[in-house]
Amino acid sequence: MKKIMVSPSILDSDFTEIKKTIKLLEKSKIDFIHFDVMDGNFVPNLTFGPKFISQIRKLTSLPFDVHLMIKNPEKYINEFINAGSDYITIHFEATKNIISVLKKIKSKKIKTGISIKPKTPVNKIVKYIKFLDLILIMSVEPGFGGQKFIPEVLKKVKFLNQFKRKYNFLISIDGGINPETAPLAIGAGVDILVSGSAIFKSNNPSKVIRKLYNSYKK
Ligand code: DX5
Ligand code: ZN
Repeated sequence: MKKIMVSPSILDSDFTEIKKTIKLLEKSKIDFIHFDVMDGNFVPNLTFGPKFISQIRKLTSLPFDVHLMIKNPEKYINEFINAGSDYITIHFEATKNIISVLKKIKSKKIKTGISIKPKTPVNKIVKYIKFLDLILIMSVEPGFGGQKFIPEVLKKVKFLNQFKRKYNFLISIDGGINPETAPLAIGAGVDILVSGSAIFKSNNPSKVIRKLYNSYKK
């Protein structure tokens, strides 16, 4: 049975309680912490930068799954490398220099990822697969937590699974993932569930995380 991984997005968590949140995530034995970096340009929202990530790095050894929703990530990639990221995912739609950015990330022994928005055809990223450790399929329009899951993107997950015979990459899905939508994503063949508001807007985050881990049993 494939092991499903969970990468909680702290975007919708209470940052004034960040130390408590990290302790809860460690106790829940999650696989990654998902950091949604937004620049107010590539997406119509602004969140945090490399300094925030480097501060959190001092609090935990959990792997950092950094999702860059920023235009021209090549301009800031060193800062995110030095901040302590374990995975850095850039957006296909955000730069013309995809291969050089992926090579730069890899040169620092950090895992590489590409993400595509719901309307971006999945065949656009096939030529990058050999450079990738992770492909992040957006199941919402990037920019905000708490949006509705777009099931049509599951076709992209199914399509990508055919390349797993030849290449070694993880498929992650991000946006509107909760205990109801997680089994659909797993059924399509994802390896990682990114979930934000379903976890942090609930009154029992640990219970929701447990449900996500158990959703493959459905
Ligand atoms: C959206 C972010 C997602 C989002 C997930 O642009 O990339 O990671 O925070 O949040 P939920 O799970 O609430 O859709
Ligand atoms: Zn994200």
